[in-house]
Amino acid sequence: MPAKPKKKNTPPRFLSTDLDGTILGKPDALERFKETIHKSREDQSDFVLCYNTGRMLDDMLDMVGSGRLIEPDYLICGVGTVIYDCGKGSRIKDFAHVLEEGWNLSVVEDILTRRTQARLQPRKYQAPFKSSWYLEDAPPELLQALESDLDEAGLNINVVYSSSRDLDILPKHANKGNALDWLLRHFSISPDEVVVAGDTGNDSAMFSLPGVRGIVVG
Ligand code: GLC
Repeated sequence: MPAKPKKKNTPPRFLSTDLDGTILGKPDALERFKETIHKSREDQSDFVLCYNTGRMLDDMLDMVGSGRLIEPDYLICGVGTVIYDCGKGSRIKDFAHVLEEGWNLSVVEDILTRRTQARLQPRKYQAPFKSSWYLEDAPPELLQALESDLDEAGLNINVVYSSSRDLDILPKHANKGNALDWLLRHFSISPDEVVVAGDTGNDSAMFSLPGVRGIVVG
């Protein structure tokens, strides 16, 4: 029987990384991260860096502008609700159409207020496709019941709970993984060229994308 050809190990050329608790938190590690990205850009001219974060776009643009973070190629912000092309300096508008179906912000706010003790996060953390709340130590049953209530109201949403406090209600297709998947398809980048990195609940959708390599930060 002829020997099977060895599968070529495709070198990664696309990094999608979370910020808080992943590359932010330890200044020395952030410096090493910057050096690694500089080197990757030197070695591979088509290397792509994408920050994939719960933070909002304005906050991210300030952080990148201040030089605290190495300049990325793309930003996925607000837990997969906005994709921003840094080269063009604009949001990718086509992506927003994907999110509209089954989404109604005022119905979400009404149900959360009537059925839970959750407190709305400050206005700067809210967005047209993101309703974010604080709810400490919410048990899984409560989150499931909330999801059922929102389903019954005719919405098509995702409930994402992170850091035992942050409760995000998002359109069904809005999460860090789906936004990344959309971006990869849009630019015909194969998942086996992709590395994802993250540390908490809202990062799990990135790790679920078939074919990507993952770095879980403890
Ligand atoms: C970021 C956002 C917050 C969100 C959290 C978890 O901290 O600012 O609104 O709830 O990520 O996704």
